[in-house]
Amino acid sequence: MKKFKWCVIGAGGIADRRVIPAMQKDEKSELVAVMDKNEAVAKRLSEKYGAPSFTSEKDLLQSVDCDAVYIGTPVALHFPQAKLSLESGKHVLVEKPIAISSSDGENLLAIAKHAGKFLSVGYMMEYHSLHQRTKELIEEGKIGRVCSVHARFSCWYPPIEGAWRQQKALGGGGAMMDLGVHCIDLIEWLLDTRISEVKSFCKNRTFRYEAEDEAAALFMTENGVLGDIAANFNIPDACESRLEVYGESGSILLYGTLGQEEKGTLTHLFSPQGDYSAMQTHTTAQTETFRAEGGDLYYKQLSAFRKQVESGNFGDFAEAERAIEVQKAIEKIYENS
Ligand SMILES: NC(=O)c1ccc[n+]([C@@H]2O[C@H](COP(=O)([O-])OP(=O)(O)OC[C@H]3O[C@@H](n4cnc5c(N)ncnc54)[C@H](O)[C@@H]3O)[C@@H](O)[C@H]2O)c1
Repeated sequence: MKKFKWCVIGAGGIADRRVIPAMQKDEKSELVAVMDKNEAVAKRLSEKYGAPSFTSEKDLLQSVDCDAVYIGTPVALHFPQAKLSLESGKHVLVEKPIAISSSDGENLLAIAKHAGKFLSVGYMMEYHSLHQRTKELIEEGKIGRVCSVHARFSCWYPPIEGAWRQQKALGGGGAMMDLGVHCIDLIEWLLDTRISEVKSFCKNRTFRYEAEDEAAALFMTENGVLGDIAANFNIPDACESRLEVYGESGSILLYGTLGQEEKGTLTHLFSPQGDYSAMQTHTTAQTETFRAEGGDLYYKQLSAFRKQVESGNFGDFAEAERAIEVQKAIEKIYENS
């Protein structure tokens, strides 16, 4: 069986923790080389995964035959490394966010189209079974017309010497750019819309690094839904994420589903109101609760990417297009703050 060959650029972080192990679970995929600018990391991963290593992306792309490149480097490097990979004739799965700016994202998509190669972005939370169920419930009208969305995603991220996420030039921003982007992506995907207007605050409360450690945005979508997103680097990891969608006939409440693992619960409440009730009773409510399947989000995303390339359907750039819209919303949030 001919396997789908992957190279990895920026192999020492999320690639080593989640993505390469997920690649190895896919019997139709194989890792053929790793590249990291840190020589010790490159060498360690070469030994760990039994693949040749490089410390220059140019050397990697000139010497190794592969179908696709996964890029897991700091955000400011996404554009130049994805551009080089596409122009070297490789399909590209670049980590989120697509690039440091929406205009770099748009240029990247144009380069992919010109090269006839596929481009997708690491918003793997779209592959979470409970997020997919949320989308189905909304599309089937199980909460009626959506009115309101609330998302909260946080972690604990104290100052770390040299950390790229804490420097604007390398990360492009702080908590909103790193965590908030997942919320924006999910909201725009679930509601099949874009964020059109925002009011926001991005600031530092706990930590004194350059990027913001907390951010909040109120927004309106093009299809009239109001919502808010809170993203924090200063709340303990143990505090669960929230994603809540409210409609004219009910609600979908997701607890603990935002993150790297397919975890958490979804509670769906269906309760069309009918007449006004001065007593505000809740007797007609029907609720059902679902638990996450516990799968591997990275495996699901990598195999979906491989299947799309193998099907020859490179014309569908929905994920990359949505990722560009996410960056436009992020730019509005930072401009308004
Ligand atoms: N989808 C997810 O679940 C998820 C989770 C974490 C991070 N990310 C994204 O992955 C990317 C990397 O984040 P991370 O947490 O793994 O960072 P990290 O700092 O832990 O790892 C980045 C790796 O890239 C290497 N690197 C730095 N500069 C390089 C260069 N010029 N060329 C090649 N390699 C270079 C570093 O040595 C390091 O090994 C970011 O875009 C981040 O937003 C996504």
